[in-house]
This record gives sequence, structure tokens and C-alpha cells, in this order.
Amino acid sequence: MVNVMFVCLGNICRSPTAHGVFETIVSQKGLSQYIQCYSSGTSAWHIGEPPDLRATQAAAQCGYQLDHLRAEQINSDTDFSQLDYILAMDSNNLSALQQLVPDCFQGQLALFLNYHPNTMTSDVPDPYFGGEEGFNHVLALIETTSHHLLTEIIQNHQLPNR
Ligand code: 4NP
Repeated sequence: MVNVMFVCLGNICRSPTAHGVFETIVSQKGLSQYIQCYSSGTSAWHIGEPPDLRATQAAAQCGYQLDHLRAEQINSDTDFSQLDYILAMDSNNLSALQQLVPDCFQGQLALFLNYHPNTMTSDVPDPYFGGEEGFNHVLALIETTSHHLLTEIIQNHQLPNR
């Protein structure tokens, strides 16, 4: 199993969107038995909460369900040995993860947008304090990146490409 975790600040906007979108794309490719998705936040602020309604609505408009997700925190109790990819939605969260993830971590710790084919930015912008448009922009960035991330994972782990 390839285990992929998406990480933002609150785990209610960006990382659950990436979780739901990537999980759906994986399922559409018939690869759910090979790839397991997770998401979490570097803060404890929203633990146990469902994704922000604006994120859920933006995702649902494009056919992705987020309702089943609940916010969790990534912290020193996390079992890092089980994770193959820890993907930060922005550079602040990558810095927080670099402090947290043990030196012996064998997987990839990277920015999610490293897998975007042509964006100039490294950060998925935090949409929390903005309007609906921000959530649609986040969704579009995540959708494009997820397709490229999946291609990379299929290649790296020699998964069937159907
Ligand atoms: P996320 O967005 O990191 O994409 O889940 C945020 C959610 C909540 C807050 C900030 C960002 N907050 O300040 O509570």
C-alpha cells in the first residue's frame, strides 16, 4: 500500500479537498487497493470537525465528496513509518512538518504543488478568510496537481496504469 497524507493548517479547507479529490481520482483509476489517502492539520484548532462547508460545496460542484472526512492533527504521536508521501499545502506548513517529521523518515516530504506541471507558486493559498472564489481556485489547483501526482506515484511504485 502507498500511503499519502495531505497537510494544511486546519485540515478543514485545503488538505481535506486534496484528500477527497485524490481519493476519487485513485478510485476512478481502479487503484484504491494500492493507494490510501489521509489528511491532517498542523494545528489542533478544528480536530473532529467536518470540512468547511465552502470547501465541501466547491468540491461537490465538481463531483468530489468530502462529507466523510473529519479534521485530525499531525503531531509527534503520528506513526510516520506508515507514510510514503507527506505533502504540505504551503511552505509554512512544510516548515512546521520539517520540525516534526523524524530524521529517520524514509518517504517524501514535499510541497503538494511540486507536482503541479506549470504553476509558479509553491503555496495553495489559504481560502479560509476569503470568499467562494478562493475555494474554487483552490479546487482547480488541487485537481490538476492530483492528476500529475497520481501519474508520478503510478510510475514510482510500478502500479498498474489502466
Ligand atoms: P486550511 O484553512 O488550513 O486550508 O484548513 C484554514 C482553516 C482554519 C483556519 C485557517 C486556515 N483558522 O484560522 O481557523
